[in-house]
Amino acid sequence: NGYFTYDPGFVSTASTESKITYIDGNQGILLHGGYPIDQLAEQSDYLETCYLLLYGALPTAEQKEKFVNKVRMHTMVNDQVSTFFKGFRRDAHPMAIMCGVVGALSAFYHDSLDIKDEQHRQISAIRLIAKMPTLAAMTYKYTIGQPFMYPQNHLSYSENFLHMMFGNPCEPSKVNPVVARAMDKIFILHADHEQNASTSTVRLAGSTGANPFACISAGIAALWGPSHGGANEAVLNMLEEIGDESRIDEFVAKAKDKDDPFRLMGFGHRVYKNFDPRAKVMKQAADEVLAELGVDDPLLRIAKRLEQIALEDEYFVSKKLYPNVDFYSGIILKAIGIPTSMFTVIFALGRTPGWIAHWNEMISGSYKIGRPRQLYTGPAQRDFVPLDKR
Ligand code: CMC
Repeated sequence: NGYFTYDPGFVSTASTESKITYIDGNQGILLHGGYPIDQLAEQSDYLETCYLLLYGALPTAEQKEKFVNKVRMHTMVNDQVSTFFKGFRRDAHPMAIMCGVVGALSAFYHDSLDIKDEQHRQISAIRLIAKMPTLAAMTYKYTIGQPFMYPQNHLSYSENFLHMMFGNPCEPSKVNPVVARAMDKIFILHADHEQNASTSTVRLAGSTGANPFACISAGIAALWGPSHGGANEAVLNMLEEIGDESRIDEFVAKAKDKDDPFRLMGFGHRVYKNFDPRAKVMKQAADEVLAELGVDDPLLRIAKRLEQIALEDEYFVSKKLYPNVDFYSGIILKAIGIPTSMFTVIFALGRTPGWIAHWNEMISGSYKIGRPRQLYTGPAQRDFVPLDKR
């Protein structure tokens, strides 16, 4: 009944209108609310960028203070959430725990079910942004068997996250401001990216009227895969596997081999057919952070050499495969001391304002339930065969 277009992977289908983020993939441009990502990464801070995504404009000093204070008021999680963690194995992947605990927040905030009420949507957005660092750090602490750390609200958003990750109850926390600034920059670079797979998942789940915590949990699940947010973990594993510059050619050849499923992780993008503007900032940040911390990581040299070879190689040039945001982020995260299994959790934390801003944009406007069609290729109608006749 009726005609529809067939577009597997949504390569040429716009699913929505949106005012939040603009991408020009051919020119490598990314704007949030009209502001270039490199300017936001250099001159803004993460919570200000969250405000921009949620409300469409940079805040005045007064609006910013109010927003930051609101986020601060919601950094703690209900004490019962800590018992929830205990149901997981200690060796669970942190993303598995995050899918569970973020979705579970809907059991604590009944007002979040009332999605038609703007005030309720706003408070859910603030709760999610405020509690993600707490939940992410609790996940890490749980997997290493250390006690959970309470948030310290005199600290900035990123300082607080690092305090909860690396602090312990026996000593006062010492957060390196250079590391905190790098963390903040990483969060900004991940904050939104229009209709990527996880954001589209959040919108699709949201289009059914599901509550925001359940929708963001769906987004976290979609982010986990190595073609999407899981790529940052996969990049570091790949660089470690390469291990030495002398082996780069071997891996490049594998990536080019049609019969080998191996791909160079951190390369290529559905939309960018040019340098991912986030990767440019990330590369520079990697240089700065490693220099500042006095870390000489051979993986950075391998990454730079790999990038150089790939950018000159006919295969990568003709297919317009450039380094993406995930290529250099892992090297910075590793230098900061974040374990590889937590990398995609960091991505999820950073992407939360984008997810919730898109969800809110959809719910506050007019929308229909997301319901794609299919091309049926199964058997034609036939009569049921009783068990004894099969
Ligand atoms: N290494 C080697 N070949 C590649 C790569 C790669 N990383 N990426 C794409 N190709 C080839 C692919 O084999 C295909 O070749 P052919 O036309 O001969 O069949 C061609 O390039 C187009 O690839 P595609 O898979 O059709 O493109 P896509 O737009 O569907 O996929 C992608 C985009 C990001 C999933 C893909 O480039 C990829 O798998 N990259 C590695 C994973 C990665 O770094 N993901 C992070 C993306 S950025 C952050 C985020 O969104 O989370």
